[in-house]
Amino acid sequence: MKKKNIVILGSSGSIGENALDIVRQFKDRFHVLGLCVNSNTKRLKAQVKEFKPEFVAVADVSAASCLGSLGRLGVKVLLGREGVCSLASLKEADLVLVAIVGSEAIFPVLSAVRAAKTIALANKEAIVIAGDIVIAEAKKKKAQIIPIDSEQSAIFQCLHGNSKAELETIYLTASGGPLVDHPKAGIDKVSVNKVLAHPRWKMGKKITVDSATLMNKGLEVIEAMHLFDVELDKIKVLIHRQAIIHSMVEFHDGSMLAQMAATDMRLPIQYAMTYPERWQNGRFRMDPLRTGALSFSKPDRSKFPCLEFAYEAARMGGGAPCALNAANEVAVDAFLRHKISFGSIPKVIEKVIERKDFPIHDVSLDAIFDTDKDARKRALQLVEFYAKRGR
Ligand SMILES: NC(=O)c1ccc[n+]([C@@H]2O[C@H](COP(=O)([O-])OP(=O)(O)OC[C@H]3O[C@@H](n4cnc5c(N)ncnc54)[C@H](OP(=O)(O)O)[C@@H]3O)[C@@H](O)[C@H]2O)c1
Repeated sequence: MKKKNIVILGSSGSIGENALDIVRQFKDRFHVLGLCVNSNTKRLKAQVKEFKPEFVAVADVSAASCLGSLGRLGVKVLLGREGVCSLASLKEADLVLVAIVGSEAIFPVLSAVRAAKTIALANKEAIVIAGDIVIAEAKKKKAQIIPIDSEQSAIFQCLHGNSKAELETIYLTASGGPLVDHPKAGIDKVSVNKVLAHPRWKMGKKITVDSATLMNKGLEVIEAMHLFDVELDKIKVLIHRQAIIHSMVEFHDGSMLAQMAATDMRLPIQYAMTYPERWQNGRFRMDPLRTGALSFSKPDRSKFPCLEFAYEAARMGGGAPCALNAANEVAVDAFLRHKISFGSIPKVIEKVIERKDFPIHDVSLDAIFDTDKDARKRALQLVEFYAKRGR
């Protein structure tokens, strides 16, 4: 059997490492063609030793100086954004898995789409900021996008074999994150360590903070709207603490389909890597007798205003989700560097989107990049302001 040639962008991250774990399990069915990191060359070298790819890319050119030894091993080293994009569009790639964090992923995603690749997409920011453009281009080039995010994967699986025209509602489930039980009073001052202690999922830092603010769910609402071509008011968020149901859909006749599975990102990653097949794997089993009761409730939008901001940005459309995302990335980064308080994150985002100084109609990619730049600049000023006011 011919092995599937896979390229993994963001191989040193949480999703990237889990994808390599799946490759490890199915060594006879996958071949790692290329790997890419931003600057973690130490991890990249270890991965090259184990998986022997033909290509690697390092986005941060200044980190690549110690990679000489890889070149001597016959590995082709690509550098910078251009290098990452070349890796994303390699002729020999059967599947390009995008696990880069942040809006920077838009470049390799578009590169893979334009090369008509099948894309296993973990990154959500690219679709959030430029969903209209990416999806239109993917349709034009017949590039398939298979979501990795557990909620989008669940919806993708529930819609499989069903007519989307008969879809009534998408219910995106959220475990609620590490602060779901934290009283509203005092939430503004919670520490970075508390926020990073997610009760259900082990993930990268940025997305863990996004889970705590519920911005992660907000970004997923925007992402689902684009990926499944569904109107915003058909997408609802439910708090489901057990994180057993990863999302569900309701059809016109009232029938609901839910996807349930163990809380392990390797399952949706494997599904995206093997789609349309399902390969035997005994590692991710869920015993229905041990799940206990499943509960659902409405999210507390006053405690977690970021969710509302995301709906607002999605309603506005155009450059608004891009501004929202840029402000969020800047604010989360400042919080992780202990520069601003947890409570300042939504304040920065709100102030950036309420200015409404972004284009709304016929937004080009250049306009998106300008919006991203302007929103980051404004968000950085706000970060300085809140940092001076004393976290
Ligand atoms: N983790 C999850 O369970 C999960 C679930 C659903 C969706 N997602 C989404 O998946 C994406 C990745 O999340 P993660 O948690 O795996 O993040 P992560 O652990 O922080 O890893 C990010 C990866 O991206 C690489 N990277 C960062 N900037 C880059 C750039 N400019 N060019 C190329 N590579 C770059 C990093 O390389 P270095 O190590 O060199 O910095 C690292 O390999 C995010 O968009 C997230 O929202 C994650």
